[in-house]
Amino acid sequence: MILVSSANGSIGIDGVWSEFQNGLDALTAVERATWIVEDNVEDNSVGTGGLPNLDGEVELDASIMEGSKRRAGAVAGLKGFRHPISVARAVMEISPHVLLVGDGAARFAKEVGAEPGDLLTEKASLIWEKGLESLPEGLSGEILKKAQALTQDPEKAVGTVNFLSIDSQGAMASAVSTSGWAWKWPGRAGDSPVVGAGNYCDARFGAAACTGFGELSIRASTARTVVNYLSQGATPEEAGVQALLDLKHLDEPPEKLIMHTVILSSDGTHGGVSTDPNATYAWRDETCKTTVLTKRTHVALY
Ligand code: GLY
Repeated sequence: MILVSSANGSIGIDGVWSEFQNGLDALTAVERATWIVEDNVEDNSVGTGGLPNLDGEVELDASIMEGSKRRAGAVAGLKGFRHPISVARAVMEISPHVLLVGDGAARFAKEVGAEPGDLLTEKASLIWEKGLESLPEGLSGEILKKAQALTQDPEKAVGTVNFLSIDSQGAMASAVSTSGWAWKWPGRAGDSPVVGAGNYCDARFGAAACTGFGELSIRASTARTVVNYLSQGATPEEAGVQALLDLKHLDEPPEKLIMHTVILSSDGTHGGVSTDPNATYAWRDETCKTTVLTKRTHVALY
C-alpha cells in the first residue's frame, strides 16, 4: 500500500494515512486526501483559497480515476462547491458521463447533494486585485493580451494537487484537483479534468498525474503517455522523463515549458519528474514513519 502526491499533497497523505492503514480503499483515500488540500486556504491553487479567474470567480477543475476498469469522473469550471473531487466521483459513480462542465456541473453537484462552499478568500481576492491593477479598463484585445501575461506567470499562476494510490488489496486510483491558472479566461478548462492529460490510472500498469501548464499536457496527453511507457516496461522515472521530453516538440518558449508529473507503477515503485530542478513530490508506504518528500528527476526542455 502506498500514497504518492505532488508536494502540496503531503498534508493529505498525513491526514488519511491511519485510515488508509486500517483498510480505506484506494479510491476513497485519494478522494479524502484531496479534501484536505481543497480545504487548505493557504494553498492558492486548489479548492477554497484558490485564485480566481479574470472575472474574480473561483472556477474549479477535478478528476478521479479508478484503475481496475478505468472508470473516470471529472468536472470543469465548477463554481460554489467545497469538494469538486467528490462531485467528480459522483459523475463517475452516478452519471453515465465522464466530464461535466460549468452550470451543468453545478446543477449536478446540487442534485447529488454536494456541499456548497464559499471559495474566494480575502487573501486570494487581494492577490487577484493586485494583478488586475496592471490591466486597463474594459475588455479589449489589449486586456486579453495582458491578462494572458498574468495567467502565464508561473510564479503566480500554476499549482494543482495530484494523488495516486495502491491500497492493501492492490486496487489503484488517482485524483487531481485545481483552481487552474489564476486570472484565467472564464470557462478555461485545464488538464486536470481531462482524462489522459492531467490524470490517468490503469491498474495493469500504473498511474500518472500532472501539475504545470495544462495546455501542454492536453496537447501531448501527458498522463496517458507516461502510463503507456510503463506498459512498455519503463520504470516510473524513465516513463516520466520520456513523456516530458515529448513536450519539447510543442515548440513553446522556455517560460511556458513547465510540467511536473508523479508516477506510480502497479508494482508500487514510484517517481516524480519535473522541468523545475528544485521540485519535490511526496509519498508514504508501510516502511515510512512519516510522509517523505523526494526530489524529482529534472528534465531540461530548452
Ligand atoms: N495543471 C493545472 C492547470 O493548468 O490548470
